Amino acid sequence: MTEDASAKKGLAAIKGTRDILPGEVEKWQALEGLARTTFELYGFRELRAPVFEATELFEKGTGSTSDVVTKEMYTFTDKGGRSITLRPEYTPSVARAIIEHRLDLEGAPMRYYYMGPMFRYDKPQKGRYRQFHQVDIEVFGEKDAAVDAEIIEMAHALLDKLGVTGTETLVNSVGCRACRPAYGAALREAAAKRKDELCADCQRKAETNPLRIFDCKVDACREAAASFPSIQDYLCEECREHFGKLLDGLDVLKIPYRVDPRLVRGLDYYTKTTFEIVASGLGAQNALLGGGRYDDMMKDFGGPDICGTGFAMGIERVLAVAALAPPERKILYLAYLGDKAKKAGLELARFFRANGVECLVEYKDRGMKAHFGRANKLQAAWVLIVGDNELRSGRFGLKDMASGRQFDGPREDLLALILKR
Ligand code: HAM
Repeated sequence: MTEDASAKKGLAAIKGTRDILPGEVEKWQALEGLARTTFELYGFRELRAPVFEATELFEKGTGSTSDVVTKEMYTFTDKGGRSITLRPEYTPSVARAIIEHRLDLEGAPMRYYYMGPMFRYDKPQKGRYRQFHQVDIEVFGEKDAAVDAEIIEMAHALLDKLGVTGTETLVNSVGCRACRPAYGAALREAAAKRKDELCADCQRKAETNPLRIFDCKVDACREAAASFPSIQDYLCEECREHFGKLLDGLDVLKIPYRVDPRLVRGLDYYTKTTFEIVASGLGAQNALLGGGRYDDMMKDFGGPDICGTGFAMGIERVLAVAALAPPERKILYLAYLGDKAKKAGLELARFFRANGVECLVEYKDRGMKAHFGRANKLQAAWVLIVGDNELRSGRFGLKDMASGRQFDGPREDLLALILKR
């Protein structure tokens, strides 16, 4: 069915979601494989949490003044009357899992990674989807700014392997509960002076959480916000020192960065470090990944007082700028002639597959010419010919489709030949 026809019948994918089809999915698999091997080199282990959680988890974690919670959550009441939300991000789920399973008592490094879908009801556009996918990493129990530098370097290591170039790393500190109130007051005062220029949303934010004004996309609000005081001038001694150590760590690791005092990030939980890696050529949605420190989340959840830091990378956005070559596939196409050969083909295919060769059998009866036509279309590397004579003698014909050369021999010899190439 064409896309149009299925849309009319109401069977099209929901706006803001998309299918990842063969041909494209290989790039996803390559990215996921490289992410896995990279993170494990840094001591991370996978932690898989559910796709939906109690709504309260995100209200408390992601934050009740964030756009994500106020506007973008997929929330519904389930049949048991509970308010459920499809996770808009992963960080609160990991914190919850640690508390629930007391992973902090196990003594293992609390370094976790995960890859999977997230859901946000935002206006779909290039690089922004309602179901999108993140690669997420989180570290718990490490206060030192060195670990923030380490994970930023790890993000770069992965982006390098993915062939992503032309990025810029932005860093900032958003302070802590000790120094942010004074900054909030200064922002409120600055916002009050330019109240008439701010959109209704930002006028409200000025009251609830003035830091959120920096997230606004409205030009007039951005212009006004550019004149607001910088958080860098309000950091307490501890936060200033922590930020200095982060920059030292990045210098040691030779990661170029730009300090951006407006980088407050859209989620409420950040303390001290925030960072983003942005890409040129991606338009408005240019953040490949973003993250930072959230030292109060666990405590606020009623769990142990354990700090956290991490980031999430948007898979769709990274793949849009990655240079990943599709993996080479070497298909052995099995061409049989007649019913007896078809049956024997089943067993032969099993033999080749058991020895690591991708083998394709199609059950529609074809003549030899049609088999070769089909093998060509599928870009098969090899064709194995199975007919009555071959079955009697136990020797089969094998054609190398690239060179056109034909070989003949028992299956073990042909397997050795295929594996050698
Ligand atoms: P975030 O900045 O909301 O952070 O999302 C991280 C990344 O996910 C973005 O930089 C972007 O690449 C991708 N992304 C976000 N929304 C969309 C969307 N609608 N469509 C496509 N891609 C999107 C977080 O989610 C935090 N949990 C990161 C974190 C982990 N902080 C500490 N630990």
